[in-house]
Amino acid sequence: MINTIIKQTNMLYKSCCRLFLLFAAVAFTLNTNAQKNASTEAKINALIKKMTLEEKVNMIHASSFFTSGGVSRLGIPKLVLSDGPHAVRSDTGTYLPVGTCLAATWNPKLGYEFGSVLGSEANFHGKDVILGPGINIIRSPLNGRNFEYESEDPYLVSRMVVGYINGVQDQGISACVKHFAVNNMETNRFNVNVNLTERALREIYLPGFKAAVTEANVNTLMGSYNKVRGQWASQNSYLLNQILKKEWGFKGFVMSDWGAVHNTIEAIWNGCDLEMGTDLNQRPHRDYSKFFMGDTVVNLVRSGRIDESVINEKVRRILYVMFKTNMIDGVRKKGESNTKAHQQTALKVAEEGIVLLKNDNKILPLSSSVKTIAVIGFNAERKQAMGGGSSQAKAFYEVTPIEGLRNAGGNKINITYNQGYKIERGATADDLLIMQAAEAASKADVAIVVGGWTHGFNYSVWSDNAYDAEGYDKPDMHMPFGQDELIKAVLKANPKTVVVLMGGGPIDMTQWINNVPAILQAWYPGMEGGNALAKIIFGQVNPSGKLPMTFPKILEDAPSQKLGITSKDLMQLYYTDDIYVGYRYFDTYKVEPQFAFGHGLSYTTFEYSNLKIQAGKKNTTITFTLKNTGSVPGAEVAQVYVKQEKSTLPRPEKELKAFEKIFLQPGDSKLVKIVLDENAFHYYNDIENKWVMENGVYDIMIGASSRKIKLNGKVKL
Ligand code: GLC
Repeated sequence: MINTIIKQTNMLYKSCCRLFLLFAAVAFTLNTNAQKNASTEAKINALIKKMTLEEKVNMIHASSFFTSGGVSRLGIPKLVLSDGPHAVRSDTGTYLPVGTCLAATWNPKLGYEFGSVLGSEANFHGKDVILGPGINIIRSPLNGRNFEYESEDPYLVSRMVVGYINGVQDQGISACVKHFAVNNMETNRFNVNVNLTERALREIYLPGFKAAVTEANVNTLMGSYNKVRGQWASQNSYLLNQILKKEWGFKGFVMSDWGAVHNTIEAIWNGCDLEMGTDLNQRPHRDYSKFFMGDTVVNLVRSGRIDESVINEKVRRILYVMFKTNMIDGVRKKGESNTKAHQQTALKVAEEGIVLLKNDNKILPLSSSVKTIAVIGFNAERKQAMGGGSSQAKAFYEVTPIEGLRNAGGNKINITYNQGYKIERGATADDLLIMQAAEAASKADVAIVVGGWTHGFNYSVWSDNAYDAEGYDKPDMHMPFGQDELIKAVLKANPKTVVVLMGGGPIDMTQWINNVPAILQAWYPGMEGGNALAKIIFGQVNPSGKLPMTFPKILEDAPSQKLGITSKDLMQLYYTDDIYVGYRYFDTYKVEPQFAFGHGLSYTTFEYSNLKIQAGKKNTTITFTLKNTGSVPGAEVAQVYVKQEKSTLPRPEKELKAFEKIFLQPGDSKLVKIVLDENAFHYYNDIENKWVMENGVYDIMIGASSRKIKLNGKVKL
């Protein structure tokens, strides 16, 4: 008995010690952080005190195309910036898959890995800020930069952007979330004015940015070119001062997009902290002090028109980021470029981001009986890295689809290649190329057509951009270069045809989709894209990608076309599609898409069962069982959609409010538990101008896509 008491006393004593040590550690850390912040604050104040007005102004505008001004006298370095969202543009290195491919993985952990690679490569190349992620909502299928962005759904954007930014910034590099805000088309991007309701702004277009600021503590943000409600976005008091800095408490700094500052007073007063890229029409030497936020500001402060404290605030924000990333008083990580590990991340993102859209009679993965494959289509051999505009990448290497298939097929499979179509401005169906392709297909066990969009023509000539490229929108959704004719001819020659689509978004498939047994959406899958695609086609990888955007059957079905309004002079956009973006429109207005948001097939099957919903004081807990009922390992993205049955203001048919990507061995199952907080139920009442969560009944839908609902439940709040 005595021994038991002694033993228990000892255990109690040990756990008290552990608890004390834990508290001490937490207290120490908090204290250290508080001390660190206080000392950083003091250091910033001390520096500002020492700076002349000219030195302060020198910091708030560019000193070259990709650097800000520094103050060498005081040991304040220039900021070195570099594009772009999926590679360090200025140097040869790792070329990651594009934003839509990353989003199609629905895997926030991969977002973190993706960001880590980018941060490490930026360190290696001596950069301080990587100009990404680009997260503008994919509102129209035609936007030329959709490939760089992520999704039509604000919740998916928010989850993926947090991982990406944390990955970059844990490397000691600043991310730059862009383009703030509502920059969803490229036509007239420098001047177009976007009109939209407060509700659409808050519920659809801002949540990704809000998550970047309030959850990932992004260090920098880039204002966009367009106007919002009549005021330039990079000098927009409501967006920058009121929402970003006041409501969200953003502590970093706002840079303009390149040439997005239009006058001094608005830029200074309305929240722009760093003016980049203004075109002074000076060649070859630019006098950067002539920027809007240059000498003019010195004169305005000297003449008392602007109080110096306004300039101090901008300098303070820039110095805050410099201290936070150890640019002053600190040791920076060395970083690495194009390592095996970085290449593996590029491969993994491509493997998990490529989406299996259709797979009739399980033609995929190709069986071992397939001995000859006819690969057809220019996109099978075309390198994409240098395309797209400012997001271009000098890839260390790029494995194209034909190379990937040959790597995987080895000498066991005879793989032929035919170009099938030309990528030239205005090119139409080429009868000779099509005849040769059909001939090859007729002699093969299987034909694989690799087509889709392109980043344009001559990548090094910006004016030669088109389709998936900055500065341009697609003219329509039709397949360019006569690809429809090519696919139909190949199908006729060999019904066993797989279509692989590359590009940043949907394409009109209506002319051939009913006869094509299998379709893969490959986006622009980065330097390892060809290997990832081949591994999926041959079954070494089980696809798990899900569409981050709706694929309409035809352009006319898209809400931006159906409900949105563009002025005749193309200078005014009215987002009269409002909150009905993507599946929010297709499901509410009962329009059948070609492929639904969240859609993606697997080589295995999954069973959903046993949904339980528990409403708590603050949170609602959902549990259900997911089982891999097939014969191969695989991953499923279980999606949670919510619908308020009766609401004061109209709400969409469903809204994505949670998801989880679950990897399961054949026969295994997992009890999935998801907790919904009030963010899953509230909406923005823009009559009362506040977020509201109304009592009542909410439908909870668990789906394998927004249209493949597997389990239904209700909760009363
Ligand atoms: C471009 C782009 C922006 C890019 C910047 C610097 O115009 O809009 O995304 O980061 O200029 O190249």
